[in-house]
This record gives sequence, C-alpha cells and structure tokens, in this order.
Amino acid sequence: MMPIDIVILAAGQGSRMKSSIPKVLHTLGGKPMLQHVIDSASVLDDSHIHVVVGHGGESVKSSLANKAVSIVLQPEQKGTGHAVAQAMPFLSQGSTVLVLYGDVPLIKSSTLEQLVKLANSVSGSLALLTVNLTDPTGYGRIQRSDSNNILGIVEHKDASKAELAIKEVNTGILAVNQNLLARWLPELSSNNAQGEYYLTDIVAMAVAANVPVVSMQPDLEQEVQGVNSPLQLSELERWYQRQLAEQQLTAGVRLADPNRIDIRGILVCGSDVFLDINLVVEGNVSLADGVNVGPNCCLKNCNIGAGTYIKANSIIEDSKVGSNCDIGPFARLRPGTELADNSRIGNFVETKKSFIGKGSKVNHLSYIGDAVLGSDVNVGAGTITCNYDGANKSTTNLADGVFVGSNSSLVAPVNVGKNATLGAGSTITKNVPENTLAVTRAKQIAISNWARPTKKETKE
Ligand code: UD1
Ligand code: CA
Repeated sequence: MMPIDIVILAAGQGSRMKSSIPKVLHTLGGKPMLQHVIDSASVLDDSHIHVVVGHGGESVKSSLANKAVSIVLQPEQKGTGHAVAQAMPFLSQGSTVLVLYGDVPLIKSSTLEQLVKLANSVSGSLALLTVNLTDPTGYGRIQRSDSNNILGIVEHKDASKAELAIKEVNTGILAVNQNLLARWLPELSSNNAQGEYYLTDIVAMAVAANVPVVSMQPDLEQEVQGVNSPLQLSELERWYQRQLAEQQLTAGVRLADPNRIDIRGILVCGSDVFLDINLVVEGNVSLADGVNVGPNCCLKNCNIGAGTYIKANSIIEDSKVGSNCDIGPFARLRPGTELADNSRIGNFVETKKSFIGKGSKVNHLSYIGDAVLGSDVNVGAGTITCNYDGANKSTTNLADGVFVGSNSSLVAPVNVGKNATLGAGSTITKNVPENTLAVTRAKQIAISNWARPTKKETKE
C-alpha cells in the first residue's frame, strides 16, 4: 500500500460564524470540529496528517500541541487549491493524498478508507466524494457527461442557471496521487468569481489529461455537512446529539427524552441506568448499574457507583461517588470530592476536595471544603468548614461517628475525635477529643417582664 498524506484544510476565517474564535475550533459535542476530523483521519494506516492553518493560526496551532500532526502555514487565504499547494513540499513523493476540511467534522473513518481504496483501485485516478442534496445551495456542482462521466466541478458562484439545478455536489473531500497534484496545482488560475485558486479545477484538468475521475457517496449526508454559520453548527449538533442519545438507548440506557440530553464527551453506563431530562455530560463520565439521575443535572468527569440516586438540579465535577449514595436535589460536588458508599449529600450543600466516609450525611445547607469525614458522621444543617484564612487552606478532620450540631463553624485546621458531639451553633477553633461534647455557644439568659421598645412620636 502507498503511504497516505492527509491534508486538512483549516485556514479559512469562517467569517459567517461572526466569532473571534477560528471556525475549526468551534465545538461539536464538546470537541473542536478540527479534532473530530483528526480523530477520524488518525484511524487510517500508514498515514501522516498535515493541517493547513492561517486565520487564527496561533490558537489553532496551540490546540494541536502534543498531537501527532504537522502544521503547514497558509499566511494568506487564496483558495483551497492554494491551501493544498502550501502542503506540497511536506508530502512524500508518490503518496496518496487525501484532502479533508476542518469544517466538515463528522466524516467517518470507514468512508475515508473506502475513498482511498477507490483512488488506489483505479491506478492513477482522482477519487471524489460527492453527495446528492435536496438543497445544494453554496456547494460546487458535479458536471457529468451524457454517459455519466465526471467532467468537472463548477462552484455555486460561477454556475449557470442550468448548472445550479444539479443536485450532486462536491463534498470537497478527495483522494489523488501526489505526483498528479504536483503537476496540476501550479497550473491553477484565480480567474473566477471569487478570485481564488480553486482545488476543484483539478477535476477538469484530470479529464483533459485522460486521468480517470471516479466518485463515491458517503452512507449519511451529515458526514459531509460543512459548517459555515452558527445555525448550521447548531443543526449538526442537534443531529449528532440525537445519534449519541440513540446509541445510549440501544445500549439499554433509559432516557426520559432522547432530545433532551447533551453528551459533550464520553458517557459510559451500566445496566438499568435512568437519565431524566436536561442532563449535560462533559468529559468522561461513568455511571454504574442502576444509577438514577434526576432532571437538570450536570455531570463532568465523574464516576458514580451502582445504585446511586442523583436528584434534580445537582452539579458534580471531577468527583468520585460510591454506590448507593443519595445526592441532591440542588447539590454541588466540586472538584476533588469523594463520597464513600451509602453517604448522603442533601440540598444546597457544596463540597470541595473532601472525603465523605461510608454512611455519612451532610443533608442541608452546608459547605464542606478540604475536609476528611470518617464513617457515620452526621453534619447538621448550616455547617460550614472555615477552610480559608484569606491566605492558606487548612483541613478539617471529623473522625468516625462525629455528630455536628446545626449551624456550626469548624475553623480549620481542626480535628474532632471519634464519636465527639458538637453543640449546635458552635464555633470550633480547637481540637475536640473523642467521646466528648464541645459547645461554644453563649449561655441562654431569660429577662422576665421584658418591655419591647416602642416607636417614638416625631413632629413633622
Ligand atoms: C468548497 C468547495 C466546494 C464544495 C464545498 C464543500 C472549492 C473551490 N470549493 O467550497 O466545491 O462544495 O467546499 O463544503 O474548493 N480553506 C483554506 N484556505 C483557503 C480557503 C479555504 O484552508 O485559502 C479551507 C477552509 O478553512 C475550509 C475549506 O478550506 O475548511 C473550504 O473552504 P470554503 O471557503 O469554506 O469553501 P466553500 O466555498 O465551502
Ligand atoms: Ca465551506
């Protein structure tokens, strides 16, 4: 097999996105469009990826740091033919060149493999990926002879009325031998409606040189859908999310509504998982058997153990949750939270960088940060770990069986021994030994026959 040089065009400005972010860095399913293309292309054996960057080159380049791709600079965007020409000095002689677009994100690896195979099966040919669209507006049209041979591609802006009626369009994706490109690219002219060097003009050159031009179509139209505007991006996102939702349903996950879940990363579910409406998943999320997620939750980079119930409006980020836990409604687990099995985090509770031991409960209105809770600890409503002195963060340790009365402040660093009890309303600043009661609240006094103040008469 010939080595493959994959050239991904990503230099365009994407002015119709009306954004300062380069178009190819806009995300689909939480991943930049360009990265989708690179991931699909990376599957091809014996291949090397070249990304042509220009507009927003610095941010595109930095998004590619540590990726196994070469970067080619196209300082001025003079068209797709000019863009491929910038990559030519870096391609191997005689390789099969596969041209992809950074703004056509959902192209499948299998389609690319077939296209390369097609180009190589008819030796010395030019293989085009085309598609029939009910609305071909904006695309280059495929011109064919009466015997159905491809004659050329005419861009929308250069097309006659009769040509505009053609439904078969150029996806832009093509495969061709490097030797042929090296011959044709220097011959391109910019004498057209957009004053650009069109890569598509090599098709007519191939025909003129008796080089066979072959074509195939992808399984799905969405694979070759280009993104030029926020509307197109949102439409493709909805289609993509629907595919991801259907994959979950097929795998046995029960979704309250496949149109109301967004997966911006990777979601792995065990059996008998139920996901209510409006779940947003980011990064890597795994839900073990029997996990139940209520409406309006956000889960980011977290592992949730079997049988755990996450109630409505909870947010969990960079955290690990054991099995049979109860979380929410309205709970916020911030990065570094770890819940052991059978623990409970109730409404309006925020946790950060804390370990909550087996069977422990923080049920209402609390902040637990930089804390280590043993097992069977009960934290009363309104408890706050004062973990920050304005300069440094300190740890609160609550040993097994500690009972914290409501509305307590735990001023860290502080350690509370096993089975100790803290009276409600206490501000704990010193360590508490095990099996003791610590209370810092002021003693209650009673003043009998207390006369309430009365309103003074004022003359006006
Ligand atoms: C191109 C094709 C058209 C096809 C359509 C499919 C040409 C002349 N036209 O049109 O036949 O139907 O794609 O989506 O090829 N780019 C560069 N450098 C440049 C110009 C463009 O890197 O100088 C990149 C863009 O970033 C983009 C891709 O090439 O990823 C396509 O460019 P764009 O201007 O969007 O081409 P279309 O007009 O859509
Ligand atoms: Ca385009």
